[in-house]
Amino acid sequence: MAIDRFGRNIHYLRISLTDHCNLRCIYCMPEDQTFRPNADLMQDDEILLLTRLFAGLGFDKFRLTGGEPTVRANIVEIVRGIASTPGVRSLSMTTNGILLARLAEPLRQAGLQRVNISIDTLDPEKFNRLTRWGKIDQVWEGILAAEAAGLTPVKLNAVVVKGYNEDDVIDLAALTIDRPWQMRYIEMMPFAGVTDVQTQQVVTAAQIQEKIESEFGPLEASGEYDGEARIFKIRGAQGQIGFISSVTVPFCSACTRARLTADGVLRMCLLREKEINLLTPLRNGASLEDLRQMILDAVWHKPWGHGLSQGVIPLNRAMNEIGG
Ligand code: 5AD
Ligand code: SF4
Repeated sequence: MAIDRFGRNIHYLRISLTDHCNLRCIYCMPEDQTFRPNADLMQDDEILLLTRLFAGLGFDKFRLTGGEPTVRANIVEIVRGIASTPGVRSLSMTTNGILLARLAEPLRQAGLQRVNISIDTLDPEKFNRLTRWGKIDQVWEGILAAEAAGLTPVKLNAVVVKGYNEDDVIDLAALTIDRPWQMRYIEMMPFAGVTDVQTQQVVTAAQIQEKIESEFGPLEASGEYDGEARIFKIRGAQGQIGFISSVTVPFCSACTRARLTADGVLRMCLLREKEINLLTPLRNGASLEDLRQMILDAVWHKPWGHGLSQGVIPLNRAMNEIGG
């Protein structure tokens, strides 16, 4: 088991497969974002080797992120390799859904268990404005394909941005009335690249909840968390509503995560700049035992929590270079 100095059991690894993306969401990256050359990214065999190392240290829950993980070449084979690594019990993916219509079934067959799909509005024009060039029909088809392939329960993510989609939270919530889906609202967090938008256009989870309740009446609190999301229901609905309030109500004390960026750097807190490079030593011939020790040290020194309330903003990477 990998335990940190505060006694948290760190067993959840989010692996970013690429910083590249087929969208340019305004809360994630600038329109002219440049991406890393492929040679700087972990190669398929390096991803699998590091997965085996983490699984050997007790990590059992894995999520693939990006950028957009589905734009990575060989994505189905990478999923198959990770899913069949001894010790990997849970494997899911966070995706924008654009390519899921054709990938959902092969990914499911390769061992992927679930997906979280980003959808910030149901309005085609607003969706296009938020993502700078996305077509919502493709995402919708992706969601239906995910459900049909059994990548369930379907979970949807919306980042809420003032001036863009704060009123759209209602239509999104309505999706849960007769579908067994989980609609999750995420407070926008600040990173490099588009820090102004990210700090000035935040809508808090409390404000989002108020808007939803103005339409559907008081939400029923389940008292449960699903990961970092506090779970509610519209009365009588089949699905659930979740709030991820990383900014206003951090869940750091219960955090069990680590992140591996696409360029092979271990980041123990999404919102702290500290990083431990694993790929460079791996390429320079470090032994598996050296790497194992580096991971255990990094886990031990995992920061207690983020410093947003003290104005500490991580500026060494944009969101797509970390993976969310
Ligand atoms: N704050 C919070 N969530 C974000 N995401 C992207 N940028 C931000 C941000 N600044 C979300 C995406 C997706 C997941 C990978 O992270 O919408 O759901
Ligand atoms: Fe791409 Fe996701 Fe960033 Fe949007 S939020 S630009 S889909 S990586």
